[in-house]
Amino acid sequence: MPYSYPNTHCKLLLLLLLHQHLSTAVYTIGVNYGTVADNLPPPSQVAAFINDQTTIDKVKIYDANPDIIKAFANTNISLTITVPNDAVLAVAKPSAAQSWVADNVLAFYPATKIRRIAVGNEILATGDKNLIAHLLPAMKSIHAALQSAEIADDIQVSTPHSLGILSVSDPPSSGRFRRGYDRVIFAPILEFHRQTKTPFMVCPYPYFGFDEKTLSYALFQPNGGVFDRATGLNYTNMFAGQMDAVYSAMKRVRYGDVDIVVAETGWPSAGDPNQVGVSVDNAVSYNANLVKFVGSGVGTPLMPNRTFETYLFSLFNEDLKPGTSERNFGLFRPDFQPVYDVGVLRNPQVREFFPV
Ligand SMILES: *[C@@H]1O[C@H](CO)[C@@H](O)[C@H](O)[C@H]1NC(C)=O
Ligand SMILES: *[C@@H]1O[C@H](CO)[C@@H](O)[C@H](O)[C@H]1NC(C)=O
Ligand SMILES: *[C@@H]1O[C@H](CO)[C@@H](O)[C@H](O)[C@H]1NC(C)=O
Repeated sequence: MPYSYPNTHCKLLLLLLLHQHLSTAVYTIGVNYGTVADNLPPPSQVAAFINDQTTIDKVKIYDANPDIIKAFANTNISLTITVPNDAVLAVAKPSAAQSWVADNVLAFYPATKIRRIAVGNEILATGDKNLIAHLLPAMKSIHAALQSAEIADDIQVSTPHSLGILSVSDPPSSGRFRRGYDRVIFAPILEFHRQTKTPFMVCPYPYFGFDEKTLSYALFQPNGGVFDRATGLNYTNMFAGQMDAVYSAMKRVRYGDVDIVVAETGWPSAGDPNQVGVSVDNAVSYNANLVKFVGSGVGTPLMPNRTFETYLFSLFNEDLKPGTSERNFGLFRPDFQPVYDVGVLRNPQVREFFPV
């Protein structure tokens, strides 16, 4: 600790050190590195920043940008890369999947710890029947290409889903997949996950589910809770309710044993004037409590004692997204200044220089 600091700074620093020691460091977390912006730093700086300055140990990207994949080489960060939606139809063909894996995986692996390939992003939400029909074949082709390269045991294949895949989610035990998709789409996808020991990836967003009455419930703040009469279980936060709704839907088609990964979740720190529930304080409340909740091992009422691999949305504020709140989901500004800290910074002195 620098001795030249005025006394108040020393106290602040000590406080931050204690805070860091008590509330963080134990929990690792993943983050989505979205790039819908024209002012982001070069990937090499981003990779060094995440690796050296934060406790983030997993990163997910929305494409297979070679500069980004290369930037994470020889770091301790695990990477999830994505087959973009407009390439999913093509990679359903085995030969195209082999080229995709050669160009986007083999060219960088194992120097870059590519751990998972997301085949498309929220494909069901596109409503494109042809694309939806090709999703599982594309996942299988990518998996087969990884098998040919003898790296299928090291690199998982999955695909993230929005909670729009559920027709019912409240109370949590009533969760079910949309009719028409449950047996035809989800049972076979879950069978693939079971056989390949890979996770079902979902994007629960209490931010898109709260109203004025349920804001505290959505933010992990003291609240009256929600009682599920069918199970006799109490819910104290909406995230757990959404996760249990997904679990119930999976169980209903007999795949409750498949692991669940939180591919995206978050809360914006700024929005339009008068937008309800959007503030820095609320973003801190949601994200900081979420990091603790998913890492604590407390689990959910229907999935007790489980931890969930979780990817916050998002690493940066992205200035080219439509809408004020959409542009303000980031933990960091493009110059690496924290918008706020949910306990992912390694060095408390960094906080000292970037007051939160
Ligand atoms: C990766 O982690 C190990 C163990 O914590 C550490 O010794 C090593 O320096 C790290 N590598 C990088 C590139 O940060
Ligand atoms: C659920 O919450 C209600 C209301 O707070 C309480 O009366 C009930 O005992 C709780 N049930 C369980 C199983 O914890
Ligand atoms: C969860 O952990 C608690 C405390 O360790 C234990 O008593 C309980 O049996 C566990 N429940 C399950 C379902 O594993």
